[in-house]
Amino acid sequence: MTASKVVALKDINKTYGKAGQKQYQALKGISFDVEPGEFVGIMGASGSGKTTLLNILSTLDTPTSGSVDINGTDVTKLKGDKLADFRAKEIGFIFQDFNLLESLTARENIALPLALQNVSTKKIQPAVEKIAASLGISAILDSYPSEISGGQKQRVAAARALVHEPAILFGDEPTGALDSQSARELLETMKRLNDEDDVSILLVTHDPFSASYAKRILFIKDGVIGKELLRGDMPREQFYGQILDELGTFQK
Ligand SMILES: Nc1ncnc2c1ncn2[C@@H]1O[C@H](COP(=O)(O)OP(=O)(O)O)[C@@H](O)[C@H]1O
Ligand SMILES: [Mg+2]
Repeated sequence: MTASKVVALKDINKTYGKAGQKQYQALKGISFDVEPGEFVGIMGASGSGKTTLLNILSTLDTPTSGSVDINGTDVTKLKGDKLADFRAKEIGFIFQDFNLLESLTARENIALPLALQNVSTKKIQPAVEKIAASLGISAILDSYPSEISGGQKQRVAAARALVHEPAILFGDEPTGALDSQSARELLETMKRLNDEDDVSILLVTHDPFSASYAKRILFIKDGVIGKELLRGDMPREQFYGQILDELGTFQK
């Protein structure tokens, strides 16, 4: 029934700490869906539960209760190799700090998800070159991470996250370590991938400018989703203003 959704979260709770010890409930009954081709932003102040939520969505962590359907599979029911397999096929992830392997070239970093799935070398190279061209990094494919800028590193990370054509791209503050120009370029690229290639994106951020690229924003506070903003036909600049207004009333 939920197979048409790329993400279906139902009543997610997350409590850190063992019973009898000091516990903290970071997520309190979170439910929402993401449709294929959507670009959703999750906004909230530091400590509101954004990373906890994203770690659960991307199967890096498990909820204390609730279900997490990604592309019609309840990932909370998957274990071990099956979970690793599912993650490798269906999920793309970009982090604030790029997480590139310094000893590998950009090309090798991007190829990694395919190599880990035992895709043949013959198929890997064209896939890497195609996504690299789409992200504007064809010229730096043979450079090492230490030889390229932060903006380029994040494009390499984005290429690595997308090369296996996952069901959804998750980002945890992916522009957090970038200068404003590189941040803008990355966001414009994500917008194009979403508009033209129907890449489903879920971006977690505390930055209203980044969030203004989403078509829908969920506001999380103390582990609860309190409010939703829809962009509709509004220009991004105007949506940005609306987000600022919302933050003014929401975060106090
Ligand atoms: N491993 C952990 N153990 C205990 N508490 C944690 C852990 N990770 C996060 N928390 C707490 O859960 C809350 C939400 O954290 P987090 O999801 O990182 O928020 P955000 O990403 O929005 O800043 C915070 O109060 C944080 O201190
Ligand atoms: Mg965080």
